[in-house]
Amino acid sequence: MIKIIKTIAVVLLLGSLNLSAQVKVPVYLDDTKSIQERVEDALSRMTVEEKVGMVHAQSKFSSAGVPRLGIPEIWMSDGPHGVRPEVLWDEWSQAGWTNDSCFAFPALTCLAATWNKDISLLYGKSVGEEARFRNKTVLLGPGVNIYRTPLNGRNFEYMGEDPYLSSKMVVPYIKGVQSNGVATCVKHFALNNQEVDRDKVNVNVDDRALYEIYLPAFKAAVQEGGTWAIMGSYNLYKNEQCCHNQYLLNDILRKEWGFEGVVISDWGGAHNTLQSISNGLDMEYGTWAPGMAWGKTNNYDNYFLAKPYLAMIKSGEIGTKELDEKVRRILRLEFLTNMNKNRPFGAMVSEDHVLAGRKIAEEGIVLLQNKNNVLPIDLSKTKRIAVIGENAIKMMTVGGGSSSLKAKYEVSPLDGLKKRAGAQTEIIYARGYVGDASSEADGYSTGQDLKETRSADELIAEACNVAKNADYVIFVGGLNKSEHQDSEGADRLGLGLPYSQDKLISELAKVNKNLVVVSISGNAVAMPWVNEVPAIIQGWFLGSEAGNAIAAVLVGDVNPSGKLPFTFPVKLEDNGAIALGEYPGSNGQVTYNEGIFVGYRWNEKQKIKPLFSFGYGLSYTTFEYGKVTSDKKEIADSDKITFTVSIKNTGAREGSEIVQLYISDLKSSLPRPVKELKGFEKVSLKAGEEKAVSITIDKAALSYFDPDKHSWVAEPGDFEASIGSSSSDIKGKVAFKLK
Ligand code: GLC
Repeated sequence: MIKIIKTIAVVLLLGSLNLSAQVKVPVYLDDTKSIQERVEDALSRMTVEEKVGMVHAQSKFSSAGVPRLGIPEIWMSDGPHGVRPEVLWDEWSQAGWTNDSCFAFPALTCLAATWNKDISLLYGKSVGEEARFRNKTVLLGPGVNIYRTPLNGRNFEYMGEDPYLSSKMVVPYIKGVQSNGVATCVKHFALNNQEVDRDKVNVNVDDRALYEIYLPAFKAAVQEGGTWAIMGSYNLYKNEQCCHNQYLLNDILRKEWGFEGVVISDWGGAHNTLQSISNGLDMEYGTWAPGMAWGKTNNYDNYFLAKPYLAMIKSGEIGTKELDEKVRRILRLEFLTNMNKNRPFGAMVSEDHVLAGRKIAEEGIVLLQNKNNVLPIDLSKTKRIAVIGENAIKMMTVGGGSSSLKAKYEVSPLDGLKKRAGAQTEIIYARGYVGDASSEADGYSTGQDLKETRSADELIAEACNVAKNADYVIFVGGLNKSEHQDSEGADRLGLGLPYSQDKLISELAKVNKNLVVVSISGNAVAMPWVNEVPAIIQGWFLGSEAGNAIAAVLVGDVNPSGKLPFTFPVKLEDNGAIALGEYPGSNGQVTYNEGIFVGYRWNEKQKIKPLFSFGYGLSYTTFEYGKVTSDKKEIADSDKITFTVSIKNTGAREGSEIVQLYISDLKSSLPRPVKELKGFEKVSLKAGEEKAVSITIDKAALSYFDPDKHSWVAEPGDFEASIGSSSSDIKGKVAFKLK
C-alpha cells in the first residue's frame, strides 16, 4: 500500500514539476505575450556583446542571433524579382548549391506597367513564398526609386516616374511578401536615382521635390505597406551618407512617419561608427571594412558597428541607449519572422508561381503601336514567321547586378513563339545583330554560347533574307543586363538602342511591311524608325515565363492592357534632368534642378511632346469614354469627391482599360505641374460591355508640400479633374472647387 502511495506522490510531484516547467516558458518565447513584452524580456537577457553581434553582418548576407537564448540568425537575400542563389560566406561568388534555382518573376517596371494592385499582391505573395521556402528572414526589395532620367542603369528594378503610381503599386507587394513571415526591405532610401558615382554623390534637391516626388513611395511603404525593413542608399543627402543620415532616418523616417522597423545599410553603405550609432542605422552589411580584402574571412569584427562600437561602450565613451534601440527593432523583426510560429512554409517554382509570373508578364506588356492592326497574328493564316534579334534568344534573368538570378528555367521569346506556333506555322530565326555574347554573372553561367564570328553586315544580310519571305517579321531587341545597359553599377551612355539595332530595324522595314518590334528593356529607348514600323511592343524583363507571355500577346491569346510607368522621350534632351542638369553631376555633387518637374510633369510644363507618354498603352480592342461627372461641385476640408465616367468596349473582344485620374490646381501660390496622377482603376470589359468607373479623392490629392510650413497644404480655389486613358489622352474634364 505504502508503495502505491509513494508512487502516486512521485507522479503528482513530477506532474506538478512538469506543469511548473510549462509555466516556466520565458516571456520572450511566449507567443501569448505582446511583441513589445517579448522584446523587452529578450533584451534584458542579452549581454552587450550579444547585442553588438546583432547590429552588423557576420557574413555576406547574414547577421548573428543569440544562440544561447535560441534567437535565430537573420538571413537576407536579394532581390525584388526572385530569390538570389546562395553566395559564399564572404564573397559575391555563387556557393554552387544545387537546391537554389528559383522562379524568376518579371522586373518591377513590368509590375508597375500592369497598374493592377491585385497583381502586385499576387506578385509579393508569390516571391515571398520563394524567400520563405529558402528560409530567408528579409527579402531585399522592392526598389521604388523614381525614374529621373532614362539613363539610370537600375530603372528596370523600380516602378517608374510617378510617385502616386509607385506608392499604390508598392503597398500590395509588401503585404504579399510579409504574409509569408518574410520582411521586405524597401530600397534604396533615398534619392538613389543614378548609378554613376552612386556611393559618393551628394544629392541636392529642394524639399518640394523631395517630399512630392522622391519620398512618397517610401512613405506609403512604411505607413500603408507596413514594411518591416528599409534599406539606406549608397549616396549622400545633406552631405551625410543615407545609410546613417539624421535627416532621412531619424527626422523623416522615424519621427515624421513613425517607422518601427529596421534600417539596413546597402552593402558597403556605412562609412562611420559615430554616425552609424546615432543616425538611425540598425544593421550594417557589406562594409568594406578596414583591412577587408576579397574573400578575407571574418573581417566582420572590423565593421563600424562591431569591435569599434563595443570598445566605445566598454570604455564608457558611449552608453548602450542607441544599441538597445537598435536591438529592440531587430528583435521585433525576429518575432515577426523567424520566431513567428504561425507563418506558412512557402514554396519554390510551384505551379502557382508559374501562373503568377506569366500573368504578371502578360498584364505588364505594353502595346505601343499597331498600325493597320498588324497584330495580333492569326496563326491559322500564317505560314512563316521570321524572328530576328539577339534578345529573342538571350537569357535575361542573369546579369544586371544584385537582382541577377539562377532561374529554374527561362522561356526565350523564340522558344515561346515556337512552342505557341506548333507545327502549323514555320518559325525561322536569324541573329540580326550581336549585343553581348557573354553569359555569366557572379560565377553563374547561363550555359548559352552566343559567340558569333560573322560581321554585322553579314548578319543584317542574313536577317533581311530570312525576313523578306516571311508573312511576319518579329524583331526582338532592346537592351540587356550588361554594363551600361539595364544594369546596376553603371548608367546607360545614351537613349538610343545599342549594337546598331536602328539600322537593322530600318533594313527589315524595307523588306517586309508586317514588321513587329519587341523591345526588351527596363528603360525608354529612342525609336528613329517609329514611323517605319507598324507594330511596337514594350516587352520588359519578363522572367521565367518571358517567351510564353510575349507569344501569347503576339498571337492574341492575351489582349495587352499594360500602360507605361514612365515617359518615352523623343530625344535625351527632352528629359528635364538632362535638359537642366545636373546629371550625373560632378565633384561628388548632383543638383536636381528640375525639382518637381520629373517625367510627364516636365513634358507638360515645357510643352514637349513625348514619343510615348506616361500611362500610354494600346489594346486589341477599343474603348469609348462617356461624359465625366462628379458628385460634388465643391468640397470642404474633410470631404471626398467622386468622379465617374462610363467606359464602353466598342471592339470585338474582351479587354482591360486603365482609367487614369489627373488633378490640376488651376491657381496656386507655388508653381505646380499642369496635372498629377491622383487615381486609377483597371476595368475589364467584354466586347460591347459598358461600365461606370468611379474614382474618389480627398483633400490630400489636392495638396502640395509647402517647404516653409514643412507640411502639406491644399489651397482653396479652383481645381480640375482630368480623366484619361493616358496622361496625353484626356477624355473628359470636370471643374470643382476646394472651399
Ligand atoms: C547592392 C544593391 C542592393 C542589394 C545589395 C545586396 O549593391 O545596391 O540593392 O540589395 O547590394 O546585394
